[in-house]
Amino acid sequence: MKVLVSGGAGYIGSHTVVQLAEAGHEPVIVDNFSNSKPTVIDRVEQIIGHHVTWYRADLTDRAVTERIFLRERPDAVIHFAGFKAVGESVAEPLKYYENNLNTTFSLIHGMQASGCRLFAFSSSATVYGMAPLPFTEEETDLSALSPYGYTKLAGERILTDIAAATDIRVALLRYFNPVGAHPSGLIGENPLGIPNNLMPAIANVATGRQDMLHVFGNDYPTPDGTCVRDYLHVVDLADAHIAAVEWLSEHDVATRIWNLGTGRGTSVLELVHAFERACGHKLPVEFAPRRPGDRDAYWASAERARDELGWVAKRSVDDMCADTWHCQQGNPDGFPNGEPASQPSQA
Ligand code: NAD
Ligand code: WQD
Repeated sequence: MKVLVSGGAGYIGSHTVVQLAEAGHEPVIVDNFSNSKPTVIDRVEQIIGHHVTWYRADLTDRAVTERIFLRERPDAVIHFAGFKAVGESVAEPLKYYENNLNTTFSLIHGMQASGCRLFAFSSSATVYGMAPLPFTEEETDLSALSPYGYTKLAGERILTDIAAATDIRVALLRYFNPVGAHPSGLIGENPLGIPNNLMPAIANVATGRQDMLHVFGNDYPTPDGTCVRDYLHVVDLADAHIAAVEWLSEHDVATRIWNLGTGRGTSVLELVHAFERACGHKLPVEFAPRRPGDRDAYWASAERARDELGWVAKRSVDDMCADTWHCQQGNPDGFPNGEPASQPSQA
């Protein structure tokens, strides 16, 4: 299949482009590089060993998006493009609603203009809000705790309604906590600015860019008092997208939802210790007050993805830390600035 990957230069998108190419599909990247560097294209091409078609375009621009669809005529879309920082979404809700919803609208228009029928949406475990465990795809009540969360909840609802009214088939993919990097070390997570998330913060402490890891809360009702999450290797997550798009191509459904996680929880301190094993030295940590909005512990119920997609997360927490560390060591200053060697396609 030819698969248009919105946000394909970003963290999860770039890994998905690589896995798509390696599975024999043809990815087409569309990104405006608002949260990624164009040189990621070079890195992707280095891993897959050939040119990848890419566009520099803002997917909130409906006319440009439609032109790309008419030119490329993809079979499927995987939609990663969007903003994702929970705290920033509270400070700048309009920026989040506009970008995260308008990209979705443009893509649907592009699909309708070109006859594309398969759509996979990057959703998040954040749509489970404060619901009790287990989080199951159909039974658990959904809610949002931030404008970012509402963009995912709204995206899910809008796509469900569109799928019910058209011939577009939609996969809603609820990710838990994606971490790690490609084993080549050539692509990975490269947050611009100070990281909000745990794994990039740990990696910064390991390289010495940050003096100390602040562990937010050690009085939660968990075995070691720190929060528990379901960390998932980004390459496993990328593979799940391919399984979902292939499944959609074979099943006459409107919408199907899958949780994507390992089903296992890891505490903040357990992740720190795993990273210490990967980098070979102790990491300084300091306990700090709880971070507002954090809940104590959650993880995925991932049985549906296993049973229907035949997908299970294969890589361990030690793999996640080893690959993150490898990528950090190869890119101590992040990914290079500048333009990729290959030329973009013109919409
Ligand atoms: P990312 O920021 O690394 O990737 C998003 C990409 O989209 C970036 O390359 C950015 O430049 C691009 N982009 C943003 N707005 C655009 C626009 N208007 N037009 C074109 N390109 C645009 O983020 P990521 O971690 O790879 O996340 C991808 C998706 O997965 C997001 O939708 C995010 O909400 C969702 N998600 C991420 C996580 C996580 O922890 N990383 C968890 C759950 C869900
Ligand atoms: C994990 C744990 C922190 C940083 C977020 C989004 C969620 C989803 C995934 C997109 C928490 C603790 C963190 C630090 C720490 N994204 N921590 N010190 O909050 O589970 O999920 O990313 O959809 O919507 O909310 O992930 O990595 O921020 O935090 O102690 O410097 O690490 O308090 O317990 P979270 P996270």
